Amino acid sequence: MSTPSVTRFLTGITTTGTPHLGNYVGSVRHSVRFSQRADVQSYYFLADYHALIKCDEPARIQRSTLEIAATWLACGLDPERVTFYRQSDIPEIPELTWFLSCVTGKGVLNRAHAYKAAMDRNAEAGNDPDADVTVGLFMYPALMAADILMFNAHKVPVGRDQVQHIEMARDMGNSFNHLYGELFTLPEAEIDDAVALLPGLDGRKMSKSYGNTIPLFTPRAQLQKAIAGLVTDSRAPGEPKDTEGSALFQIYQAFATAEETEAMRRAFAEGIAWGDAKQRLFERIEQEIAPLRERYDALMADPAQIERILRAGAEKARVESRALMARAREAVGLRNLGQQPAATGGKAAKAAAKAAGPSFKQYRERDGQFYFKLQDGRGALLLQSRGFASPQEAGQAIAALQKAPAQSLDALAGQLEAMDASARQAALEALLTLQAQADA
Ligand code: TRP
Repeated sequence: MSTPSVTRFLTGITTTGTPHLGNYVGSVRHSVRFSQRADVQSYYFLADYHALIKCDEPARIQRSTLEIAATWLACGLDPERVTFYRQSDIPEIPELTWFLSCVTGKGVLNRAHAYKAAMDRNAEAGNDPDADVTVGLFMYPALMAADILMFNAHKVPVGRDQVQHIEMARDMGNSFNHLYGELFTLPEAEIDDAVALLPGLDGRKMSKSYGNTIPLFTPRAQLQKAIAGLVTDSRAPGEPKDTEGSALFQIYQAFATAEETEAMRRAFAEGIAWGDAKQRLFERIEQEIAPLRERYDALMADPAQIERILRAGAEKARVESRALMARAREAVGLRNLGQQPAATGGKAAKAAAKAAGPSFKQYRERDGQFYFKLQDGRGALLLQSRGFASPQEAGQAIAALQKAPAQSLDALAGQLEAMDASARQAALEALLTLQAQADA
């Protein structure tokens, strides 16, 4: 495959929370800038189906969807330029999820981190392994794979915790391609380690699960109050302060230029009072955030406008998702019955039959005797036995055919239905294939 001149990036944001400064510094700010590059095509969506896995509060889902959409738009995401939509506006996504589920081993999903973590917690607590585990949680990676494969994304910017999901999406796309012909682009995770992990109020990574966040668009007075609550050590004004390990300094650095950061470093060495340092931090954040907050507040005051923007985005996305699902349906055989398939099963089906390989079937007939047959991967008959008195005898004949195909075909000729030379050749090839598979 040739390297595309335009790289397609796709990422989803689960709609369960309120965007905070850490989201802004770690993702939104960078993504918006990145989406403006000429060699980049971006897909951003609100992962509200994923939200249902973690959250059963309808009001919170609605509120979060609105807040996240308004945040991205306020921060400069241009819905004309990128494809910006809401997952639940794309009915082809759950449809594709089902298709992918049917080519994915249950064992693969058993190994997903989120599911395993839930199982481990249950084991620790002495509960049933599946206690409080929904099928939604179990299927999370398949839904995520559908999100990604639907739009043929090349790169998926995610945190390290999501890398396994991208690998699963690759595997699912690969399985489908293998069985039904090339349909999906196989995605890669794009982990940006340069992106700073912003510390929260208590110095640990800013995260909703730690309850140490500063909401991105909290009103000015609240922002000032939140920053006043940042943990510091107890050094008095005039005493030199460490920048190392200082949450205040790290947050400042995430917003400031290199020169500003240097100036703050000097101020620390010269013993700036914590109160003054906090005031400087507040002013620096406010300088960047205030114009965005103004846009955010205007957007939040007009939710109907956001709804219109998302619906327009979904229409744009669905031009692609409808086309892809039409091809996927055709590939698996969910077809217009008025149109006959090109050849028996088509090239893909033949390839799949070959991949599935030949197999023996043993069975009993109404005459009370025991039979076996050899079929190819599509179920076509290659070899048919005559009746045996016991299943053991039939089994022994199968074992002989597997062990020494050519000799046994001759030795057992009397117990097999007559075959012409080309049928015998096909049966022999299948037996040799089976032998090779057993040896592998
Ligand atoms: N699972 C992602 C998260 O929690 C959100 C998500 C859903 C996503 N679908 C996606 C991210 C597709 C990237 C691509 O962060």
